Amino acid sequence: MKWVKALGGVVGVAALLGLGIILGHFAIPKGADPLAPSVSQDLDLEILETVMGQLDASRIRETLRELSREPHLASSPRDEALVQLLLQRWRDPESGLDSAGTSTYEVLLSFPSQEQPNRVAVVAPTGDILFSCRQSEENLTEEQAGPDVVSPYAAYAPSGTPQVNLSVHNSLELRNSSNVLGIIRGAVEPDRYVMYGNHRDSWVHGAVDPSSGTAVLLEISRVLGTLLKKGEASPNPAPVQGLS
Ligand SMILES: *[C@@H]1O[C@H](CO)[C@@H](O)[C@H](O)[C@H]1NC(C)=O
Ligand SMILES: *[C@@H]1O[C@H](CO)[C@@H](O)[C@H](O)[C@H]1NC(C)=O
Ligand SMILES: *[C@@H]1O[C@H](CO)[C@@H](O)[C@H](O)[C@H]1NC(C)=O
Repeated sequence: MKWVKALGGVVGVAALLGLGIILGHFAIPKGADPLAPSVSQDLDLEILETVMGQLDASRIRETLRELSREPHLASSPRDEALVQLLLQRWRDPESGLDSAGTSTYEVLLSFPSQEQPNRVAVVAPTGDILFSCRQSEENLTEEQAGPDVVSPYAAYAPSGTPQVNLSVHNSLELRNSSNVLGIIRGAVEPDRYVMYGNHRDSWVHGAVDPSSGTAVLLEISRVLGTLLKKGEASPNPAPVQGLS
């Protein structure tokens, strides 16, 4: 009589399901839509299209040129100048965000010596030097030989098990370094956050890493900030733009 039990089981499930549907029908208050698009939809396609339509490649190019004009090693004067540039963009009366500020941390960083660059040499068992790293980048463009360009730490060797002669002259220093945060408050769920960020420091001019990302971030925040100042967009949830 297995099939009887099986049928009983199916009916039992069906009865419970039916009961659930009936209870649900009366239990959920009419008029309230718990999944209203304004609350549940994370992606507002209209805002997305508006933002995409207003992004300006030439502004990204200009910003990238400015960000990578000089090397900006973490905590260096140029790095601090970029903190001010970001604050100024995010506090702009026409395209700024709801708020922008910095938080500064004392961090222990490792700096290579300018006078005594690090060296890596691959030495054969015979004592012959097979490979020696370059002490500085090849001066392909004028700025490559600038005083603020940090000598590379190159640890690159052909395969094998040779002896490696490594001389490192770094120093550990406590320095102040700031995160910059720009904030747009969310219209509907201000306690939920969308974070968009990038690092800022670069040992050289950093046009690709990291400033290409920063330039795009600044253009997106300019478009969002402009819509915000015009009262045309108040995203949900709250996006936070951060850089460190
Ligand atoms: C680097 O190259 C530029 C030309 O591209 C030249 O004017 C400059 O003197 C060079 N600097 C060094 C230190 O070699
Ligand atoms: C390793 O480098 C140091 C510093 O340049 C040098 O004095 C030493 O002779 C080198 N050793 C070998 C095995 O090449
Ligand atoms: C960091 O900044 C604070 C406040 O200005 C200062 O007291 C402190 O000495 C600074 N630390 C370093 C390592 O410069």
